Amino acid sequence: MNVSRFIRVLTQINNNEVILSRKRNLFKINRRWIGIQAKVSDDNECLEVKYQKRTDKFPLIWLRDNCTCENCFHKSSQSRIINWKDFDINIKVNSVEAKDESNIEINWNDNHKSVYSWDWLEKRSFSEAAQVKYLNDLYIPTKKLWSKNEFFDVLKSYEHKDIVNEDEALYNWLKDLAIYGVTLIRNAFENEKECQKISERVAFVKKTHYGESFHVVAKEGTNNVAYLSNPLQLHTDLPYYHYQPGVILLHCIVQNKGKGGGNLLTDAFYVAEKLRNENKDAFNVLSSMDVNWLDVGEEDAVPFHKIHREPMIVLDRHGNIRTIRHSIPQRDSYFTVNIEDVKPWYKALKVFVDEIYSNAAHFKTQPGDILAVDNTRLVHGRLGYQDTKDVKRFLVGNYLDWDEIHSKLRVLRKRFAKSSP
Ligand code: OGA
Ligand code: ZN
Ligand code: ZN
Repeated sequence: MNVSRFIRVLTQINNNEVILSRKRNLFKINRRWIGIQAKVSDDNECLEVKYQKRTDKFPLIWLRDNCTCENCFHKSSQSRIINWKDFDINIKVNSVEAKDESNIEINWNDNHKSVYSWDWLEKRSFSEAAQVKYLNDLYIPTKKLWSKNEFFDVLKSYEHKDIVNEDEALYNWLKDLAIYGVTLIRNAFENEKECQKISERVAFVKKTHYGESFHVVAKEGTNNVAYLSNPLQLHTDLPYYHYQPGVILLHCIVQNKGKGGGNLLTDAFYVAEKLRNENKDAFNVLSSMDVNWLDVGEEDAVPFHKIHREPMIVLDRHGNIRTIRHSIPQRDSYFTVNIEDVKPWYKALKVFVDEIYSNAAHFKTQPGDILAVDNTRLVHGRLGYQDTKDVKRFLVGNYLDWDEIHSKLRVLRKRFAKSSP
């Protein structure tokens, strides 16, 4: 039997309009697409697709740009290869037809034909609901901000052996890390390579001038105040990198047996949003004035001199908080701002510092714990401690980038997400 004859039975085609009919018994047709109608809009700019309850519009210029035929799209690299030098931005449609029960065909006035599936179109809908779903689901999981009192509810724990052996545990761990900015892995072996092993389950370690990994131990003549046994003020790591490391993995191998060495952790996005609501002036100052972040010194006889200028609260162009940078020791004494803005900036800093301390959760990692912290969002610190002759506090850490984590999440979500678009 001739398939195209069947399609004609199933569809009404009058050059510019396609309607999938209800005669399902003649042809296997996806229930969702029955009754769907498509036509070119009256202004000749869009394809209008009418579903049972709503209408989507797809600009013709976008459709032509996203033709998936082999001349326009290279399948194995999933890349557009349409020649844009010759692209006609006023492209028009000669006719639209139902190619079969799940695809629509557009014949363009440049003699090109494009085929799109209803499914492909629906996923790329320009409607607000579809775009919000894409942005919060596939693009980047929506963050849930937390206050000090919520910390022990949001701190999810995972077993080290599960993260190492099971992709589903890896997926859930990374998702919680993206949502809450903090997670704990328990029962890691007391081995200096465990953070690296976990990082390689995700992608690879982000190297910095401190090396692939760093050892947090109290040492004489250190090049970083983290390597003292003093209290470590709340901070983000490496604010002087333009591309600051996304996530810190910190493996506790030996912990102080006394009162010292505990961790402090604050969701600085929560604090910044609180400032936005309660102290708009402080928020505006901290999110608009550049700060000079600095690290200068030597590691393994290799000198470094990093400077990066950016505000403490970095906003995207929609006003959403993108990043937090804060480190008292790593803020330069060069402050290249207008002199009259200096005191207001310090006043705002004081408000911020008071808030991050009053919103800090206190806990203490134990040997075998790997703490993962979103370094673009949380500030972390440590209580001072005193090493003894037998017990010297010892942590090993390394960094991971959010690009790699988000990529791994998208790869894994195809298998493990509860609802995958
Ligand atoms: C660091 C750091 C935390 C700790 O080294 O940057 O934050 O618990 N260390 O020692
Ligand atoms: Zn094409
Ligand atoms: Zn740190």
